[in-house]
Amino acid sequence: MSNTINGCGSGNCACKSAASVQRRDPFDETDYGTPLRHADIDVTLEIDGQSVTVPAGTSVMRASIEAGVNVPKLCATDSLEPWGSCRLCLVEIEGKRGYPASCTTPVEAGMKVRTQSDKLQSLRRNVMELYISDHPLDCLTCPANGDCELQDMAGVVGLREVRYGYEGANHLKEAKDESNPYFTYDPSKCIVCNRCVRACEETQGTFALTIAGRGFESRVAASESVPFMESECVSCGACVAACPTATLQEKSVIMLGQAEHSVVTTCAYCGVGCSLKAEMKGNTVVRMTPNKNGQANEGHACVKGRFAWGYATHKDRIKKPMIRAKITDPWREVSWDEAIDYAASEFRRIQDKYGRDSIGGITSSRCTNEETYLVQKLVRAAFGNNNVDTCARVCHSPTGYGLKATLGESAGTQTFASVEKADVIVVIGANPTDGHPVFASRLKRRVREGAQLIVIDPRRIDIVDTPHVKASHHLALRPGTNVAMVNALAHVIVTEGLVDEAFVAERCEPRAFQQWRDFVAQEDNSPEAMEAVTGVPAEKVREAARIYATGGNAAIYYGLGVTEHAQGSTMVMGIANLAMATANVGREGVGVNPLRGQNNVQGSCDMGSFPHELPGYRHIGDAATRALFEEAWNVKLQPEPGLRIPNMFDAATHGTFMGLYCQGEDIVQSDPNTQHVADALSSMECIVVQDIFLNETAKYAHVLLPGSTFLEKDGTFTNAERRISRVRKVMPPLAGFSDWEVTIKLARALGYEMEYTHPSEIMDEIARLTPTFHGVSYDRLDELGSIQWPCNEKAPDGTPTMHIDEFVRGKGRFVITKFVATPEKVTRKYPLLLTTGRILSQYNVGAQTRRTENSRWHEEDRLEIHPADAEDRGIRTGDWVGIESRAGQTVLRAKITERMQPGVVYTTFHFPESGANVITTDSSDWATNCPEYKVTAVQVLPVEQPSQWQKDYSRFNTQQLELLNLAASSGK
Ligand code: SF4
Ligand code: SF4
Ligand code: SF4
Ligand code: FES
Repeated sequence: MSNTINGCGSGNCACKSAASVQRRDPFDETDYGTPLRHADIDVTLEIDGQSVTVPAGTSVMRASIEAGVNVPKLCATDSLEPWGSCRLCLVEIEGKRGYPASCTTPVEAGMKVRTQSDKLQSLRRNVMELYISDHPLDCLTCPANGDCELQDMAGVVGLREVRYGYEGANHLKEAKDESNPYFTYDPSKCIVCNRCVRACEETQGTFALTIAGRGFESRVAASESVPFMESECVSCGACVAACPTATLQEKSVIMLGQAEHSVVTTCAYCGVGCSLKAEMKGNTVVRMTPNKNGQANEGHACVKGRFAWGYATHKDRIKKPMIRAKITDPWREVSWDEAIDYAASEFRRIQDKYGRDSIGGITSSRCTNEETYLVQKLVRAAFGNNNVDTCARVCHSPTGYGLKATLGESAGTQTFASVEKADVIVVIGANPTDGHPVFASRLKRRVREGAQLIVIDPRRIDIVDTPHVKASHHLALRPGTNVAMVNALAHVIVTEGLVDEAFVAERCEPRAFQQWRDFVAQEDNSPEAMEAVTGVPAEKVREAARIYATGGNAAIYYGLGVTEHAQGSTMVMGIANLAMATANVGREGVGVNPLRGQNNVQGSCDMGSFPHELPGYRHIGDAATRALFEEAWNVKLQPEPGLRIPNMFDAATHGTFMGLYCQGEDIVQSDPNTQHVADALSSMECIVVQDIFLNETAKYAHVLLPGSTFLEKDGTFTNAERRISRVRKVMPPLAGFSDWEVTIKLARALGYEMEYTHPSEIMDEIARLTPTFHGVSYDRLDELGSIQWPCNEKAPDGTPTMHIDEFVRGKGRFVITKFVATPEKVTRKYPLLLTTGRILSQYNVGAQTRRTENSRWHEEDRLEIHPADAEDRGIRTGDWVGIESRAGQTVLRAKITERMQPGVVYTTFHFPESGANVITTDSSDWATNCPEYKVTAVQVLPVEQPSQWQKDYSRFNTQQLELLNLAASSGK
């Protein structure tokens, strides 16, 4: 029998071509013991009489398992490099002395391996006997019973007795570390296999664990042998997943026992879009584990996706529809029919009174593609206008505008895996270790392998200097000067002859390029001229530009620190200019990569959530596109774009926009200038909020429709790589209906029929009407695991890398990016610049993560301030400080840190009472209205009491909670 495994990772895969190497069976759960190797040379050897061919560098263990021959193992697992400590995987190799460990022995051509013999069996039994003699014999009551590799291996090697007794020295009485809210460390069960330590280093890149002590004394230690919660551990769970015993064990498993079945779904937090396995007992989640075949995450997750799912069954969940005439009235629980009929009749009443355009809808980047598609369809077809917008307005709308204008497609160019081929990585205005942690782990691994890292950010974020990862350049620019910086980088590239002339000549519009070249070459764009603006020494900028242009494959990753500016769209185009000028686009390892904030920001934009665009980014003014949708939807569409979110607010305060359907989005907490948003909502006559909790927006609502979490519905999310992944229902919706079903009910009540019985039918319609989705269906997603759009006749399996031979728009277009200083300037009254961001443990407005144990890591928003600015003002860490801008004032506790540069302060916005957006202004991106969250001129001074806004908020909040409680008690 002969077995050829051409690097596909699956022993039973039929494909043999090199082109198929990346295609893995999306459901293969086998642990091959050591990682997959890629090599140009194949090696053929014999294992237990079978001929096996594998890529050079493969371990004997992996070759055996791929050939279907199981070798016992404990310290080896295929997500980690082999360690060779347990000696359970011993084999015999003809011509070699002794019994080498198969996990650390690479294959050689012609090798003859025996995995089974009496001698091997006896050696393995002896090893197991030693392990078991220092291990509690509580298998029947152990939480890992049935899911323990030690237990399995005892069975595999046929261990029947332990000769050494349990009287000698052992670790059986060692105390547990219960400090982490999600997992327990029980050293009495540790076999010192080092898998956790390697997982923390290799998979996560945090280096929080070591093996302390020697020989018999060796034990796993977090940081300097402190409890996990006091260590550098970020609770990603990689060590827990890697542990072969119950030493590191999820508390949920200890409490609920082993799962009965599992369902693969997609994380509902950030734009990495990790594939997770919901392990279930009936309708109860026992634990969430990273899917090793997940194409975005390859078996890793972070503290949010891995552990913070408890909000789904939190007591605060809204489970009954409710209505009220005024926001000062108590809520009244009603039937679904009554709530929907009331909402529809109010919307029609408002349209009769104020006109067709007086109502609109907001889609959510947390909902599925199918749900988002339905909301924009409802607005366009049933409301009869184009007043639909999405929360992407306030984060990545400039990405859509900027990339479309330059490259021709409103999305990132690469896969996450592409970073593994990058030689130079530039991170601009993104904080991946907090915002996109699983991608950050990949990025850090690549830097440890030798890639150069350049960070352009006002703050010294973690990735600038973290264990075994150091940025070669940190360009700590002043907030609001991104475009000055990108022009200075471009100036160096153009004036020092670093442009890839051949690429530009072949791939880009010559006239636009020449104009851009002349523009950036001007002396006033030089790093020297811009030094006073950016605050970054010119020589550092020159060095960074040279590295980017000449250091090999160079990839740019950017985040909201690029987009949330008055010149957000300009900066995105500036980044695309850099990539085109240096030929860093169109292959693996390079590209322009927006790190999307929420789980489905990409999808909500793709699905036509913007007022001017139908699904697939086609302008509503285009008659042919409109005709396509008019025929499919059986309705006449309006040709003019509708209102954007800020325009809706303005129109509301002017009395012309009076009704809003808001699904899964908290505009009061997340949009800038909270007071203006609150005034706008207070002016409206009917606000329908569909959400899982009484969020800040719902406190202004007249109809509250219970939302459903990602666990309660079928659908798809699209991550930052354009990867469409399935969301699968694992429990029934708590309030009876998934969000997509509720939108259908509302459409029907408005007199517009939507005939779908399952979200797959919605996706079929999207695919029919959207060229970049033509090849997408639930069947194909099940078959391939996930699909990166465009997926159509030309690319039936999707498109991992975009713009390979030509740009989507044909020729790439350089755009002149003149730096215009933000109107938000420091003055004597407001001498500091406030910038905002988020933190690893919390997510966005915090509605989900605040209702989990994640708050143990971050229980309040704080104001980070440089020691010099703090000293000037007599501020100490922990003091209450007032932060005042021209928009408003709030009070937070101060945290003094050298991560900040002098003159710049920073806060997160995860808690509504912080009022971070009370102080952000309505200054916004010139092209898209994306708010300038990242630059607000403020004064910071010590104070004794909350701000007036906070006192008012506290009163309003208490009143609204009481009104909700009245509904709950009347419904009992
Ligand atoms: S949970 Fe993650 S960060 Fe913490 S010790 Fe384990 S692997 Fe390291
Ligand atoms: S804690 Fe688990 S993974 Fe870590 S050394 Fe002990 S048994 Fe191995
Ligand atoms: S929050 Fe992001 S990185 Fe963390 S598990 Fe979810 S998708 Fe992955
Ligand atoms: S599995 Fe090979 S030495 Fe442990």
